[in-house]
Formats: sequence, C-alpha cells, structure tokens
Amino acid sequence: MAGHDLVLIFDFGSQYTQLIARRVREQNVYCEIVHGDCDAARVRARAPKGIILSGGPASVYQPGAPTMDAAVLSLGVPVLGICYGLQLSAHLLGLVVAPAASHAAGGEYGRREVRVANADGLFAGLPPAFTVWMSHGDQVADPGGEFEVLASTDTCPLAALRHRRLPLYGVQFHPEVTHTDGGREIVRNFLRGVCGAAGDWTPSSFVDDAVATIRARIGANHVVCALSGGVDSAVVAALIHRAAPRQLTCVFVDNGLLRKGEARQVEETFRGHFHMDLRVVDASRRFHERLAGVEDPEEKRIRIGHLFIEVFTEEARHIPDARFLAQGTLYPDVIESVAAHGGPTATIKRHHNVGGLPRTLRFELLEPLRFLFKDEVRAIGQALGLPDRIVWRHPFPGPGMAVRILGPVTPQRVALLQEADAVTLDEVWKSGLAREIWQAFTVLLPVRTVGVMGDGRTYDHVAALRFVTSTDGMTADWARVPHDLLARISARIINEVRGINRVVYDISSKPPATIEWE
Ligand code: XMP
Repeated sequence: MAGHDLVLIFDFGSQYTQLIARRVREQNVYCEIVHGDCDAARVRARAPKGIILSGGPASVYQPGAPTMDAAVLSLGVPVLGICYGLQLSAHLLGLVVAPAASHAAGGEYGRREVRVANADGLFAGLPPAFTVWMSHGDQVADPGGEFEVLASTDTCPLAALRHRRLPLYGVQFHPEVTHTDGGREIVRNFLRGVCGAAGDWTPSSFVDDAVATIRARIGANHVVCALSGGVDSAVVAALIHRAAPRQLTCVFVDNGLLRKGEARQVEETFRGHFHMDLRVVDASRRFHERLAGVEDPEEKRIRIGHLFIEVFTEEARHIPDARFLAQGTLYPDVIESVAAHGGPTATIKRHHNVGGLPRTLRFELLEPLRFLFKDEVRAIGQALGLPDRIVWRHPFPGPGMAVRILGPVTPQRVALLQEADAVTLDEVWKSGLAREIWQAFTVLLPVRTVGVMGDGRTYDHVAALRFVTSTDGMTADWARVPHDLLARISARIINEVRGINRVVYDISSKPPATIEWE
C-alpha cells in the first residue's frame, strides 16, 4: 500500500480487533493487525501514522499476560489504547491498574453514559455526554501526574486519558463497537485529527496500486488463477487481467460440491463474457471418493483443501511457464485461520483457501486481496466494472456443500441439497432482498422427522435455512426476513424436493454461532 498512510493495530487477543481494523478502513485509512509484541524497531521500519492497541481478555498483572515493547510508546507516533491497550500502556508508564469497583460482580459490561471533561482531540464534535460500551474487569486506578482525564463515567472515573507529553491516548470503553455512540467520530478524530492521516485509501486507488504491484511482481511470467465463481476470485482475475491480460489462465475446479448449475454459469461468465483463458476440470468423482464416510468438519475441510491443491496443481502443470498462483484469500480468512501474524486469537475453522498448501508447490502465491475485507472487495469489483450479479453474489465457502451437509457427504445428499438450495436462492433473489442479506443458503441436517403428505406418512430429511446480515462475515446476525418469504420457500422445498419434509429457520448470531454450520 505504498504511498498511503499506515496505521498498525496491536492485537492483544480481543474479539474486537478486526472490528477496530474495519473502523479504521471506513475512514479510508489503510491499517494492518500485528501481534502485540511488535517491537519499536519493526514499528519504525513500517513508519506508521498511528498505532491502536486492542483490548484483550487478560489482566496486566496476570502471569503470561500479553505485553508490548514500552519503547513503542515514545517513538513519537500517536497511540490510542483501547481497554486492555489503555491499561497496558498506563501500566508500562508506571500507573496502577486495579479491578473495577463492579469487579466483584465479574466486571463492567454494557452501556454506560460517559461525560466529556475535555473535548479537544478525541472527542471533538461530540456531545458533552453520550453512551459508550464497556467490557472490562480492570481499569486504571489513578492518573498520576502524567495523565489528564478526558472523560468519566459513574463507575469508571478514568474512562479516557491523555498523556501530557507523549502523543498517547487511551479509552476504557470500546469505540469500535456500534453500541458506542460516536465511536466512528472518535476513531476519525484520532486518525485525522491526532495522527494527521490523509484518508486517501479508496477503491480506485487500490486498483491502481494493485495493478502496478502485480505488474512489478510477475514481470513477464504467467499467472494461474483459481476461479471459484465467487466475487473474491473474480476480482482477483479481473485485477490480473487488467494488469497483464495475456499472462493469465483461470482454472475452475468442479468439486461436485457446488450450487446447482454453478459450473455452467462460471463458464458462460468468464469465457463467454470476459473472454478469459478458462479451463474447467470436472473432479467431482475424486472429491466424493476422498470424502466417503468422513463426518468431522475439520477433516472434511482438510481433505477438500488438499485434494483441491492436488487437482489444481495437475491442471496447472499443463500450463507452460506458470509461475504464480493467484487466489482470492481475504483478510478474515488469514486472521481466523492462523491468527494474525501468529497472534493470540483462537483458530475457529481452517479455511479452505489458506490451509494445506503442500511444500512442494512450485508456485509463488499472488494474493492481492489478502489484506481486504469483503465489502472492500465488492467496492473494488465495482470500480473494476464487474457486473452486479458477480459483485453481489453471496459468499460460498471453498469446501462448498460439504460443510452444509452435516454428517457424511454423498453425491445423493449433494443433489438433494442443491435442489433445496436452488429453491431458496430463487425465492431470495425474486424477493429483492438478496443484497441486504449477506448470505442465504440451505443446510441439510443429518436427522429425519415424521411428516404427513396426502394420506401417507413420510420420514424424511430436515433442511435448515440460514440467512444472515453482516458487513464482513466476521460478525453476523440472523436476517429478519418477511415470514411470507420463509413460507414460500418452505412450501416449495417440501413440495418440490423429494426427500425433505421439514424446513426450519436458524436464529443464531455470530458470535457465538458461526455462519456456516461446520
Ligand atoms: P464462518 O462459518 O466462519 O464463515 O462464520 C465466515 C464466512 O466465510 C465463509 N467461509 C469460507 N470461505 N473458504 C472460504 O473462502 C472457506 O473454507 C470458508 N469457510 C467459511 C462463510 O461462507 C462466511 O461467509
């Protein structure tokens, strides 16, 4: 992202670290999440405009609690500590951190009213009192002589602090969550006002930068792109096509786990419309053989990931001079799979596109979207002129229907789920709600229930509908869609798809559930 301001987010294991990154990017400022122990020399080498210290579940006095290089605080780079980030920076500068008064009750969680004592800097343009979201056990006990108190709540007298000499700010509450009124303004005030960031990181600047970077990296070499039909790999292909149209070959692997009619659609779109060099490989039988009898979700993901790479590598061998492999890996995939830069966030699921690359793979990876969130990818797809039907396509996991069929995966079960899912998607697109809904799909449950059809008893499968709203797939809520839509889908599936006699609606948010069922 040369030529643009950089903000580093130090991760101390907060569930909200990625939300902080989202809030920063919304201000058109590029940021990256790094491990909390990133030292001053590495920070200096990256020359960030600002640093944000995330929250985290630990207490600064706890043995093994994450810490940071105190020298980072005196580099002259503005720092904003959030929750644990505030406590840690204050602790490293000699202040006392103690359990909050409400700690006996397990800590302070929820909405509180904060009163602003000094509106310069962080709180510029905000009302004198507003609601913030608290989620902490400890808090800074005494500001000492070095810190000025900027805001307080009834239970947290030091809700926001500023160091008198260093460009160091801290807030005990969470400006990154939407429950904090004015959270966006606080982040903007820090980035624009305190750090002096330009806010010039936009989709079209990203396209120009990415095209230049791709050209410089690939030189005269050929690139192979794994196309999935989804927006991520489509944007990757379009970027590379723009950078070097004659050096790109796309490969589409039909793993027999796709949505109904998808392989044909991909051919029509990319070969027909974009005139890209596209090779389609039908490997359904091999995937089904590899998945036979496997029930464990992680095992399914591992096997599919490995076989995908095998099939793909075989195909790519037929492409002479192929040196680079382009993939549509996104930032959440990277963070959730390996935890950012080896950071402390727990591994939730192994994502298909970053798991299991064999050491012998002779390609160099080209992942131009590796630091982007999904909504940023859509904006870039639009900037590249991709058609709406691709830009707004719902995300589809690499392991496809295999993680939407609970229990063993068979070609028959895939066919059953494809039929039901085709009904779901048809109704969702007809309803005009497809863009508002982040993902709408159907899950096949490994249970059968009793029903009655006509005069006869049925004993068939259950399909679950999973519709979620989200901005980046990292957090999500179940979509409040009209009951009529659910009724139409349910009636059509039960009537049109033989083998399913019951449809249920999933009303779980992420967290604590995930979007996919496996
Ligand atoms: P979860 O289920 O983890 O999903 O809440 C978050 C988002 O990621 C998608 N997903 C995947 N995408 N490869 C992908 O490219 C995968 O292996 C994978 N698994 C889940 C999921 O559909 C949702 O949008």
